[in-house]
Amino acid sequence: SKKPVRVAVTGAAGQIGYALLFRIASGEMLGKDQPVILQLLEIPDEKAQKALKGVMMEIDDCAFPLLAGMEAHSDPMTAFKDTDYALLVGSRPRGPGMERAELLAINGAIFTAQGKALNAVASRDVKVLVVGNPANTNAYIAMKSAPDLKPGNFTAMLRLDHNRAASQIAAKTGKPVASIKQLAVWGNHSPTMYADYRFATIDGASVKDMINDQAWNKDVFLPTVGKRGAAIIEARGLSSAASAANAAIDHMRDWALGTNGEWVTMGIPSKGWYGIPKDIMFGFPVTCENGEYKVVEGLEIDAFSQECIDKTLAELQGEQDGVKHLL
Ligand code: NAI
Repeated sequence: SKKPVRVAVTGAAGQIGYALLFRIASGEMLGKDQPVILQLLEIPDEKAQKALKGVMMEIDDCAFPLLAGMEAHSDPMTAFKDTDYALLVGSRPRGPGMERAELLAINGAIFTAQGKALNAVASRDVKVLVVGNPANTNAYIAMKSAPDLKPGNFTAMLRLDHNRAASQIAAKTGKPVASIKQLAVWGNHSPTMYADYRFATIDGASVKDMINDQAWNKDVFLPTVGKRGAAIIEARGLSSAASAANAAIDHMRDWALGTNGEWVTMGIPSKGWYGIPKDIMFGFPVTCENGEYKVVEGLEIDAFSQECIDKTLAELQGEQDGVKHLL
């Protein structure tokens, strides 16, 4: 049987954590033959640590055959020790009335500390996924704080946007969601993201031709996907949690186990692809194989798409410029 791998999860007592940990422990992320050790991080606050203990009691009570160990931590320097996978979920998302500078300062502190801890103690091949918002910029901060690790091993979660886009296209075309191939989401995990179905196919046929309605693309599809997070908060009174956890599972599973040539979206540090400046943490279409992602290159970017990409890039550059002094 396989040797257990170490999976660190931050914000483990939060909403997403509650929808995520059980699925990791059951083998949905890394495979039904891969034992895992969970290294769970929460803030030192007594209530958070107590809540974490409660979640761990429930995980114990599932008697998961693949769970080879489980630890509670309040310090990233111990939580990330030798970790092979790190899912950084805990963060400080923007609250009502919160100033941008305040948001960036708080997350700057969290993600510089966590990046430094990963740099110091994690496996040299650690795969990092940042879920906590602002996800792209938090991933950028962590990457810049970990100079001894491969920058390409820091990623941000765009997969929820990707899955939301796939679901809208399935509803519009009346086709099963699993039949949609070659979908891409470019840019920031924010309402400026650009979900792009120009290359998408269903059973070999072009989705763009099937829909054949640019007004729907511009006025319905993009705003629906872009504002989906807000629509869920409005309906549920809480932000997306199970769907976010599901996207995190999809992202890590595909990165670790491969996509068999199919496209998925990951937020990754640019190497200059499609004119996106180096190191910008940007959503790109990728395929994954042997634990590595590879950007889908050579796609044609038309005028409308370029406009959308420029807009989401400008937003990200603004965010990433705003944290430079913290790094
Ligand atoms: P939550 O508030 O229920 O849980 C967050 C948990 O993180 C709390 O238990 C908190 O104590 C913990 N935490 C905060 N700072 C921490 C730190 N420095 N170290 C360790 N733990 C820390 O929030 P929820 O709903 O679980 O969401 C978590 C994050 O995910 C939020 O930032 C949210 O905006 C983001 N999110 C991102 C999505 C994406 O697609 N990228 C989608 C949905 C949510």
